[in-house]
Amino acid sequence: MVTGGMGYIGSHTLVVLIEAGYDVVSIDNLSNSDLNVIGQIEKITGVHVENLNIDLCDVEAVAIAFDKHPDIVGVIHFAAYKAVGESVEHPLMYYRNNLVSLINVIQEVKSRGIPCMVYSSSCTVYGVPDKLPVTELTPLKPAESPYGQTKQMGEQILLDALKGSKTQGVSLRYFNPAGAHPTGLMGESPVNVALNLVPVITETAAGLRDEVVVFGDDYETRDGTCVRDYVHVMDIARAHKLALEAAMAGKLSSPVETINMGIGQGVTVMEVILAFQKTSGVDLNYHIGPARPGDVPAIYADYSKAASLLGWEPKFTIDDIMKTAWVWELKRRKQLT
Ligand code: UD1
Repeated sequence: MVTGGMGYIGSHTLVVLIEAGYDVVSIDNLSNSDLNVIGQIEKITGVHVENLNIDLCDVEAVAIAFDKHPDIVGVIHFAAYKAVGESVEHPLMYYRNNLVSLINVIQEVKSRGIPCMVYSSSCTVYGVPDKLPVTELTPLKPAESPYGQTKQMGEQILLDALKGSKTQGVSLRYFNPAGAHPTGLMGESPVNVALNLVPVITETAAGLRDEVVVFGDDYETRDGTCVRDYVHVMDIARAHKLALEAAMAGKLSSPVETINMGIGQGVTVMEVILAFQKTSGVDLNYHIGPARPGDVPAIYADYSKAASLLGWEPKFTIDDIMKTAWVWELKRRKQLT
């Protein structure tokens, strides 16, 4: 069972699971995704995925969905709101949606003794870290936004709820997921306006925006722009399958294992832009603007826990990310016109 299966990381994870031989079902209320992705998943895998269009905050509807699928061996819970700025404007909407849905899903998982649950957390839980790279033992800082709070609270709720239960939990702390399926058939296609750097770049190059604004160039980094750890969506998708399998094989010990999902390389905003220009051959229109309030100057992961516990190693580089994101942007535009 994959919640948020029609979304960006969820859809790529469905492909990985199907290709590994799993039967999958998605729950998604299409609040920031659309059903076209089912056709794209079918083109890649030959399998038509069932999506249950229900709101995970509706406790009865969630129970009915689980009743319909009594053989679930694992739940991957992606469904959540994820826009930092929006969460500052509408904190209650974020707390209600992200936490109530999580509680409802955990309740079903726990009461039915489902062996494994994977939760989408975020590197945002580290705030502004004192030391880089961050490991899972790096102390958490107060979250900068209600979105970040929901991720910290979500991890805690999962931990409290699964202690002593039959379910093995895994919280994956994503750094900056980006890129698209190598076939170009699937990628990030938010219904709401794109805010993340990579889609902003590809939409600008495709002529949908006038320019990319680089948020600040006087940070204490090698070129003054912010450093992030960009990780290819297919690498992240594969980590979910590995997490499920490690949990089912009894290879994990604590009730919830918390694992960083980054490739261990800090890349600046300017380096992302240069990687895009190099791999696409497109001259990007950008200018340096003011810093975005709340941005962390630099963060990247130590992923040795993912390597040792899950046998996970990243297969894609920043160049692969930009190449696949650009191919997807071009194909996506063709589909829309
Ligand atoms: C943040 C959170 C991440 C969360 C994500 C959800 C942190 C460290 N990361 O990612 O956990 O899941 O939001 O959306 O809190 N940038 C520009 N111009 C743009 C857009 C972005 O210069 O138009 C820069 C940003 O300043 C940042 C980098 O690009 O340095 C990446 O930004 P973005 O893609 O928005 O992700 P984060 O803010 O890192």
